[in-house]
Amino acid sequence: MNKADFFAIFRRFRVLFYLDYIRFYLQKITRNKKNRAFKKKYPDVNLPPDYLIYESFHLDYAKYYLDGYDTAKWLVGLLGDYKKLESVTILDWGCGPGRIVRHLPKILDESCEIYGTDYNKYSIEWCRNHIDNVSFHLNSLNPPLAFQDNSFDVIYGISIFTHLSEKSHHEWIQELVRVLKKDGILLVTTHGEAFKRILSTKELEKFNKGELVIRDKVKEGHKVFGAFHPPQFTNVFFSEYVKIIDFIPGNNELVKPEQDIWVLTNVN
Ligand SMILES: C[S@@+](CC[C@H](N)C(=O)[O-])C[C@H]1O[C@@H](n2cnc3c(N)ncnc32)[C@H](O)[C@@H]1O
Repeated sequence: MNKADFFAIFRRFRVLFYLDYIRFYLQKITRNKKNRAFKKKYPDVNLPPDYLIYESFHLDYAKYYLDGYDTAKWLVGLLGDYKKLESVTILDWGCGPGRIVRHLPKILDESCEIYGTDYNKYSIEWCRNHIDNVSFHLNSLNPPLAFQDNSFDVIYGISIFTHLSEKSHHEWIQELVRVLKKDGILLVTTHGEAFKRILSTKELEKFNKGELVIRDKVKEGHKVFGAFHPPQFTNVFFSEYVKIIDFIPGNNELVKPEQDIWVLTNVN
């Protein structure tokens, strides 16, 4: 029995959410010293409430803020390979408590309009009260978004499909395409091959057959609701709605597996 087989038992009995809450408190204790040191060193950095950081990432202030900045820089560099990032409208779909989007006003040209959306009302409320020069919007678990057709030149969603059901995959990709301008860029990440090593025996069997693996029995969209995407599935799924411009497989050789990156555009 591997670790995932063991936790699958708790999922079956619908107690995984509560176990995850215990994990949150454990992280609070184990990372307390490191997090206090960060606060002392960066007293002017506004930090979201601990649970919001944990729920969308890990409870590690330096990783949330400093690695968040590095990720924003890396993302802007990558997006810049596909679209000139001047006078563009850009949306962070599933922005959480702003780990990436909070840095964009410092990195992007002033001519860009920056938006963030999430279904977590607490994250959006925190972002609205603490992050300037980004327009934040609350959406529901299911579409629509609060935007007109063809609103954005660029949309990115970092680790959002990774927490959605199969039905939501289809609904959301169509919604993202609706609000994306013609020739716009959509960049999303998925749990690809690199994540095989954290799957249970049953899940791995399904993944190896090229089928989407869903870990449910918790609230959809939450961090413990998981979707794992064999590239065979993702290729067919995306090709139904968008054109795939690029695929960057996640690195499997790091301590933590990396997500796959898909760069997509409108088909019309
Ligand atoms: C793993 S976190 C990633 C957050 C952020 N993208 C980042 O990289 O820090 C997943 C995020 O997706 C959001 N989310 C889940 N389902 C969503 C949905 N249907 N619409 C919008 N956001 C959603 C969650 O609230 C959470 O903020």
